[in-house]
Amino acid sequence: MLTTARRTHTCGELRPDHAGQRVLVQGWAANARDMGGVVFVNLRDRHGVVQVVADERSPASAREAAAGVHLEYVVEVEGTVQLRASPNPKLPTGMVEVVAEVVTVLSRTPALPFNVDGHVAVNEDLRLQYRYLDLRRPEVQKNLVTRHRAAMAVRRFMDAEGFVEVETPVLTTATPAGARADLGPSRVHPGQWYALPQSPQIFKQILMVAGMDRYFQIVKCFRDEDLRAVRQPEFTQIDIETSFATRELVMELAEGVVRTLWKEIGGHEVPPIPVISYAESIRRFGLDAPDTRFGMEHVDVATALRGSGFTVVGGALEAGGIAKAFVVKGGGEKVSRKQLDAYTLFVKKYGMGGLLYGKVGAPWTGPMAKIEPERLEVLAAACGAEAGDLVLLGVGSPETVNPGMGRLRVAVAKELGIVPPGFAFVWVVDFPSFEKDAETGRWMAVHHPFTSPRPECIGMMDEGREGEMLANAYDIVCNGYEIGGGSIRIHDPAVQSKVFSTIGLSIDEARQKFGFLLDALGYGAPPHGGLAFGFDRIIMLLCGTENIREVIAFPKTTSAQDIMSGAPSPVDERQLGELHVVNTKQSRQD
Ligand code: AMO
Repeated sequence: MLTTARRTHTCGELRPDHAGQRVLVQGWAANARDMGGVVFVNLRDRHGVVQVVADERSPASAREAAAGVHLEYVVEVEGTVQLRASPNPKLPTGMVEVVAEVVTVLSRTPALPFNVDGHVAVNEDLRLQYRYLDLRRPEVQKNLVTRHRAAMAVRRFMDAEGFVEVETPVLTTATPAGARADLGPSRVHPGQWYALPQSPQIFKQILMVAGMDRYFQIVKCFRDEDLRAVRQPEFTQIDIETSFATRELVMELAEGVVRTLWKEIGGHEVPPIPVISYAESIRRFGLDAPDTRFGMEHVDVATALRGSGFTVVGGALEAGGIAKAFVVKGGGEKVSRKQLDAYTLFVKKYGMGGLLYGKVGAPWTGPMAKIEPERLEVLAAACGAEAGDLVLLGVGSPETVNPGMGRLRVAVAKELGIVPPGFAFVWVVDFPSFEKDAETGRWMAVHHPFTSPRPECIGMMDEGREGEMLANAYDIVCNGYEIGGGSIRIHDPAVQSKVFSTIGLSIDEARQKFGFLLDALGYGAPPHGGLAFGFDRIIMLLCGTENIREVIAFPKTTSAQDIMSGAPSPVDERQLGELHVVNTKQSRQD
């Protein structure tokens, strides 16, 4: 314990045991009430709130100083702890108060843009603009403390498992991860650029070639991609790599991290985590990151509907489409026409032509009533739908129906309040190695191009069967959020070169971009594999929020700005000149 601090106690720690003790506390005035001769100040620091009172027991100088205290002033109080005549059961310190003897205002503030202690909803942009005030709120501070405790728990766990934390560069060359890279110009090398890492992927593999055996890092990654509630342009990974790895070993390790965090931080025992294939995930949930806390699983109803005279259905199936339905139990009554219209608009965002629905009965009602009754009977049996239930049906191409119906399943469950509390984890494995880019028609790596295909699939690259290849990759999902992903890597430079050429990188390009990795792999690379967790997403789940910005001290808005610091911002022409950069766009502030 440090002994030179002026304060004797934090605001949150005073209890009846301290009664009679002389203390010195410092903090912010969470409220200040002058009741004519008696002044109450609630003093707040990160540890809690305590009531300070200046009354006839205090010297006149303390009463006068206390009367000058306003909201969010920084105040130091020396006084004696006394039991309160009327305790406040809502405060942990509510049995006591500090009777002021000396009150010193250390710092003042003008009127505040919002009330720090109020539970009033404040516009998020305003909160981010005055983040220093927002961060004074106990609920936001609690998230940052949870984040700190989680980082400590991860470090303890990884250290105990023999992992070494190694820092990797932020100024580096581009690593592929499916997003655009952020770049920084070099002043020393005109016309040359550093890329900020989308992940330390290549460096951690090189650390395996270097014999580090077991690496981890809690590390910042940078991705210029479309932002959503769970994505930030800079975010933090728990990045892990191990030599002589099998998929099972990496999964066991990752489960160790998850179990430790959920137990130590969330007080929650994680049961054995089920493993499903990517194909099964798409079939049952339409998505590769399924929320398995509730049912309403997708049912393939193509067999029941093929050949239907209702052309919206029959025609789409004829044209090679799929038909997926799910059942909302008792939804025939519960779900209004207005909600159904909203669901239709919702699935259209994913490219679906529309949504079919039907209320089960004799006869059915809703657009599905246009389907032949005998087909509806087979469909209802396949889905387990009974009278009074609502069936939602999507028919069309798999590329639109799977994500559309997949997201709809989650949205409907959340809207109807049928998602139980708690956590449901699932591993998704056996992803395809490659998928076709819709725009260019070229193969792209589904994970990243360093991911090993499953051993039995490696030969398929020579047979033109790239689309059938499965990757030795795995994602871990919690409550529908992908919280981590990884793979066993390619450690044979010949296979690595083949993967590069499959995704359209010529030998020259591959050498230019990743020559150092190919070289390193040629110098005795151990078989290796790993995974990276999205640390912010994990903390978000542990803090019980659905907004990643709530667990990041200084997050960016969804338009990738830091409103508080004003980043990104223009720089002057001289500075650009030094960096050999020419501005082709007038900036907003010019
Ligand atoms: P991947 O790209 O799947 O894998 O990223 C790993 C995890 O990081 C989180 N994540 C994000 N979190 C917040 N904002 C973002 N923009 C964002 N992007 C990703 C997700 C994701 O599961 N190098 C590989 C890992 C490996 O193969 O070992 C990688 O980065 O939770």
